[in-house]
Amino acid sequence: MAFAIRDFKPEDFEMLWRLDQECFPPGISYTRQELKIYIRRRGAFTLVAEDPDNARSDGDEGSVTGFIVAQGGTTGHIITIDVAKAARRSGVGSQLLAAAEKRLQASGSEAVSLETAVDNSAALAFYKRHGYSIVRIWPRYYSNGVDALVLSKNL
Ligand SMILES: CC(C)(COP(=O)(O)OP(=O)(O)OC[C@H]1O[C@@H](n2cnc3c(N)ncnc32)[C@H](O)[C@@H]1OP(=O)(O)O)[C@@H](O)C(=O)NCCC(=O)NCCS
Repeated sequence: MAFAIRDFKPEDFEMLWRLDQECFPPGISYTRQELKIYIRRRGAFTLVAEDPDNARSDGDEGSVTGFIVAQGGTTGHIITIDVAKAARRSGVGSQLLAAAEKRLQASGSEAVSLETAVDNSAALAFYKRHGYSIVRIWPRYYSNGVDALVLSKNL
């Protein structure tokens, strides 16, 4: 699948929020307010994967296939990565993750960490494939009571 990775623009917000609702169950998906706060966090950046064949200048539905929100620091943090169901297993997530890791490394991060739900087998397979290891468990991390695994990788 052809797609391009670019920086977030404010007009993307509603599409990204809807994609997050599609990607995560209630209790793990973000409210609009939460997603806004994460995107605006100090040192955070958001990258968007877009299908250039579908893209229009007015920010149409359907052109965004995924996004990643990350935050810089000595240990960078992947806040979320979301790929539309129809676009999965086409390399979109891998390209987003690689682009975010590259940007984190360029801004001085030595490692990257993230949390994912213990029952999210797709995400665990995805992160393992990209060299992440489980470092700890946070019991009842999510508001639906599910535990989180913390994974990390040296950059
Ligand atoms: C996890 C997620 C981001 C992966 O995105 P993706 O674009 O489908 O990933 P890729 O196509 O780049 O997959 C790369 C590799 O990861 C592994 N992988 C990805 N999804 C997998 C799945 N459902 N089952 C098993 N392995 C999987 C595979 O090794 C895959 O390589 P392959 O397709 O050649 O076998 C996507 O499934 C998603 O958005 N899920 C919902 C949101 C989420 O859980 N985010 C992560 C937690 S923060």
